[in-house]
Amino acid sequence: MKKSIIITGGAGFIGSHVVRLFVNKYPEYRIINVDKLTYAGNLANLKDIEDKPNYRFVRADICDFDTIYALMQEEHVTGVIHLAAESHVDRSIKDPFTFARTNVMGTLSMLQAAKLYWEALPEKYEGKRFYHISTDEVYGALEIEHPEILFTEETKYNPHSPYSASKASSDHFVRAFHDTYGMPTIVTNCSNNYGPYQFPEKLIPLFINNIRHRKPLPVYGKGENVRDWLFVEDHARAIDIIFHKGVIAETYNIGGFNEWRNIDIIKTVIKTVDRLLGRPEGADLDLITFVTDRAGHDMRYAIDSRKLQRELGWEPSLQFEEGIERTVRWYLENQEWLDNITSGDYEKYYDDMYKNR
Ligand code: NAD
Ligand code: DAU
Repeated sequence: MKKSIIITGGAGFIGSHVVRLFVNKYPEYRIINVDKLTYAGNLANLKDIEDKPNYRFVRADICDFDTIYALMQEEHVTGVIHLAAESHVDRSIKDPFTFARTNVMGTLSMLQAAKLYWEALPEKYEGKRFYHISTDEVYGALEIEHPEILFTEETKYNPHSPYSASKASSDHFVRAFHDTYGMPTIVTNCSNNYGPYQFPEKLIPLFINNIRHRKPLPVYGKGENVRDWLFVEDHARAIDIIFHKGVIAETYNIGGFNEWRNIDIIKTVIKTVDRLLGRPEGADLDLITFVTDRAGHDMRYAIDSRKLQRELGWEPSLQFEEGIERTVRWYLENQEWLDNITSGDYEKYYDDMYKNR
């Protein structure tokens, strides 16, 4: 059976890397990128592969069950890699409804469409796969004082933000579809990604852009929160391996064993930007501006990805220093990509976009 795969959210940050990897690596597969193109979706992320014969873009809302179901029939879909989501914690604090709609109801709509389509086929679920991409944030927060404790696949869900609550809910629906209907599902929970094409509302691209324009860098609280950073191409590679070799109904944690306090990563980014722009190293450290903390700000995330390494042989390929260098270089060399998004004052853009949604 020829593989025909819907990748949702393929115009976003991680989704675009997954689409690019699959389109290039598997010319014999049909790859259908389903994306609503919210503020976070950008087809410029996929310029290099948009004309490939095995690729199709469909602008659709994952909550639109009828359209998704019809597309599955039309494309004889054999697999789903589900990334589409509202992904920014700060937005979820301001507008939780949008997160419940897309992340919970949208995931349910994808599941139900796949279920009805696959169950009606003679071979039913044989050779099919529904792979749901989730986050480490569903596990809650770890303590700085206990660096030996990491999130494992057995860690109890304990989400704190509306974003993580909505992702946790969607994860439960995915597992429920396996347990109730026998749908061949897989869930992965990944740590913070960084790299090219990330929307500049997230820490690293926002700060690179601000440093370039010598704008203040709003550090939440004391900057002591810890995140576990993974280069986005390593996440895409993990998704490829898990989609093909992962065991149905299993969960895999994905992370780089790469914990950083925000303030340390920010200083590293500043020094890298300064060096690459030919400014005296550290000249822009004074842009650091401590601001009111994010509400409910999780203190520490850290992923134990040994199961994935042990059972499927994946490991991160890039050292963090190299990944950050590549990332900063990419944003500096693709200022036009950033300018098209920020169109001047990013705060204003953000507010305008937000009101219009
Ligand atoms: P993103 O915000 O950059 O992209 C999300 C994409 O989904 C956009 O292209 C957007 O247009 C699309 N989308 C949103 N709502 C939609 C809808 N209703 N219908 C169809 N498309 C819709 O997100 P990202 O950072 O690339 O994250 C992708 C996935 O990975 C998400 O599920 C997120 O929870 C998960 N994740 C992200 C990270 C991270 O560090 N960014 C880490 C772990 C897991
Ligand atoms: O852990 C995985 C998650 O990582 C994903 O599920 C989310 O989709 C993704 O957005 C990301 O969530 P974070 O909240 O960790 O990422 P963000 O880039 O928003 O923030 C990283 C850290 O930096 C966090 O502790 C908050 C802080 N921060 C962020 C911004 C945007 C600041 O101090 N200032 C800022 O302006």
